Amino acid sequence: MNPPLLAVSGISVAYKRGLSSKYSVQAVRGVSFSAWRGRTLGLIGESGSGKSSALNAVAGLVKPIAGEIIFDGKPVGKRRPGMSMIFQSGAIDPKMRIADVVAEPLRNHKRMPAKDERAAVIKLLEMVGLPSAFMERLPWELSGGQLQRAGIARALALRPSLLLADEPVTALDPDAKEQILDLLARLIKEFRMACVFVTHDLEAARYLCDAFCIMQNGEIVERGGVYRIFNEPQQAYTKLLLESGAVCAG
Ligand SMILES: Nc1ncnc2c1ncn2[C@@H]1O[C@H](COP(=O)(O)OP(=O)(O)OP(=O)(O)O)[C@@H](O)[C@H]1O
Ligand SMILES: [Mg+2]
Repeated sequence: MNPPLLAVSGISVAYKRGLSSKYSVQAVRGVSFSAWRGRTLGLIGESGSGKSSALNAVAGLVKPIAGEIIFDGKPVGKRRPGMSMIFQSGAIDPKMRIADVVAEPLRNHKRMPAKDERAAVIKLLEMVGLPSAFMERLPWELSGGQLQRAGIARALALRPSLLLADEPVTALDPDAKEQILDLLARLIKEFRMACVFVTHDLEAARYLCDAFCIMQNGEIVERGGVYRIFNEPQQAYTKLLLESGAVCAG
């Protein structure tokens, strides 16, 4: 098999509480996983199991207290230009016009004349199925699904090779959820991106992912191909998740 685009080994994430200088919450405990281009890995588990903490460590939003993250053959640095992240659609700044939301990464990382920027934004909107007229709108003038499309357009702006998605369909109604999952699946194949998809929505995970890591209490308790996990779960915790149909929050 090709080497993975992303190789995470033995990372731990801990947080300090309040003014204390001690790490009092250990959110991720020595977790390892890899991601390959054109494929999607699901990090699945109940609320508080450490999924977002693990993903944020890959994105560079939190600094792990142990472990190693290799991206594209090299240990990651402070800036991680080949990675983009998408969140729940509500995470977009409500005061920014859609054109500015999508253009922001271009402004931060590329010098581009205004005319080229406008053309680039129109192209990005087109890639996610939004009309160019939406450029002038504010986030609250879009539906949840449309807003998530704008979030995806923004994530694609710098043509990432790794897409990190934290519950991107969780707040959406069933139709919008299906459309966004279809869009993500298409874009992942089209641009041969690797994707790490964090969710507690098993149905969504099953649709998009090739393989799962099941997380419980900061650790990966089971991993494997989606078919195998659904048909022959080995761990009691995984069986419980599958039986409950969805991973309950709390
Ligand atoms: N910034 C933070 N400061 C302190 N504790 C945190 C912080 N972020 C997360 N935690 C704690 O770390 C643990 C793991 O949280 P994390 O957000 O990674 O879980 P999760 O699996 O993404 O949950 P959810 O499905 O609810 O999003 C929890 O106990 C949480 O309270
Ligand atoms: Mg989370």
